[in-house]
Amino acid sequence: MFNSRLTQVGRMVKQLTRAGQFASVTRAEYLQRPYNCYLQPVIYHPFSTTAADNSCKEVNEQEEKRISVTFVDKYGEEKHIKVPVGMSMLEAAHQNDIELEGACEGSLACSTCHVIVMDIDYYNKLEEPLDEENDMLDLAFGLTETSRLGCQVIAKPELDGIRLALPAATRNFAVDGYVPKPH
Ligand code: FES
Repeated sequence: MFNSRLTQVGRMVKQLTRAGQFASVTRAEYLQRPYNCYLQPVIYHPFSTTAADNSCKEVNEQEEKRISVTFVDKYGEEKHIKVPVGMSMLEAAHQNDIELEGACEGSLACSTCHVIVMDIDYYNKLEEPLDEENDMLDLAFGLTETSRLGCQVIAKPELDGIRLALPAATRNFAVDGYVPKPH
């Protein structure tokens, strides 16, 4: 009775493995898995030498992908940082002690996160600004053709190497209660 149950369980595990429900990993791979991969069920094969658990690795490699970004301050000083894909330039600036204010914390209610994309090719790779962003940009000090709000510029692989200039000053009407007129 017990033996037949055991055989049934063994058969089910085999089927799930074949169906890709469980990843098959070696001991070394199991121990190297990032913490979030422990949520994925695995079958640990102590003597296996084949690597079959690529899906979780790929997801984590993508998550850990970083791009190079250079911030140039008003004195022309450059700071090179690595920014994870998916992170806004405002967050990246704050994490790296770069003086980009961001008074409304990314809620499109100020222009204090104004940055100037220094290369038009990179500017053209950005998503189109929302109307709210354009409204706020209209209030920005030193607006240029390639101005954007840093909280709306999200790191993606195509932006690797982007250079962002910080304007000499910022204006902060909106957070203090200013409501822009519709266009
Ligand atoms: Fe206020 Fe970006 S931080 S709009």
